[in-house]
Amino acid sequence: MTRLTGKTALVTGAARGIGAAIAIATAFAEEGARVIVTDIDTAAGAATARAIGAEFLPLDVASEADWSRIAARVPTLDVLVNNAGVTGFEGPFDGPPPAHDPEHAQLADWRAVHAVNLDGTFLGCRYAIGAMRAAGAGAIINISSRSGLVGIPAAAAYAASKAAVRNHTKTVALYCAGQGLNIRCNSIHPAAVMTPMWEPMLGDGPDRAARAAALVADTPLRRFGEPREVAAIAVLLASDEAAYMTGAELTIDGGLLAGSAATPGG
Ligand SMILES: NC(=O)c1ccc[n+]([C@@H]2O[C@H](COP(=O)([O-])OP(=O)(O)OC[C@H]3O[C@@H](n4cnc5c(N)ncnc54)[C@H](O)[C@@H]3O)[C@@H](O)[C@H]2O)c1
Repeated sequence: MTRLTGKTALVTGAARGIGAAIAIATAFAEEGARVIVTDIDTAAGAATARAIGAEFLPLDVASEADWSRIAARVPTLDVLVNNAGVTGFEGPFDGPPPAHDPEHAQLADWRAVHAVNLDGTFLGCRYAIGAMRAAGAGAIINISSRSGLVGIPAAAAYAASKAAVRNHTKTVALYCAGQGLNIRCNSIHPAAVMTPMWEPMLGDGPDRAARAAALVADTPLRRFGEPREVAAIAVLLASDEAAYMTGAELTIDGGLLAGSAATPGG
């Protein structure tokens, strides 16, 4: 397994969930990359890094100062995965979770989601272009969402931020191509991948299994995806096999976006 041998890859939000899977299983480390695990959760991030013999660096993707520290520490890079993301429902909260519908959402809550998902991706891409320019080539992978492709009434900020990530991916791809740089930028759009992100919606009550089944009832493959299934797409986009792919968006959603609930004949 050597598809990423000789490449240095930095993954944000890699302490757990999809980011950890990209860093570890069937993914970057196993394909020979030197992996740099980053996260705001320093304990879990360091543990993930230890498990694969990787380096851990603390990084809040919404912090420009943090990215400057990364740039000083990791001046050249081959692969960046902008994976860190929040829904706004993480908590803990003093009272009920904040409203994220377009009628009741508070500006501060809207901005907090954009700060991580969109500003974090902008800052990551900006750093990566410089670090990859030095290396002569590179691959940027932005983890958007199927929520970036459709409206989500109860999660307006999440959906808007992920839509902007999709669009910024194409802008970065065109900018780099226009500069004559061999830096590719693509987005991945997962849906319903079983990670801790779903915990607030699943709960730990007796109806957990029923809730999980209901959440994927409209998914043609009728199951949650696994983080390693997203990681496999990230490996492809990071590798030289994807040399002609830039500005592309790949859905990994069990077929959810292939059709419509309104399809005649069901
Ligand atoms: N799980 C899904 O079904 C799903 C679907 C579509 C898109 N995504 C996207 O995939 C990515 C990973 O999601 P996940 O399900 O693994 O989530 P997760 O909540 O399990 O993990 C997210 C990680 O990001 C870290 N993080 C949060 N804020 C950060 C910040 N400011 N700076 C650095 N790290 C930060 C967290 O500490 C955590 O380790 C996110 O961008 C998410 O929007 C997930």
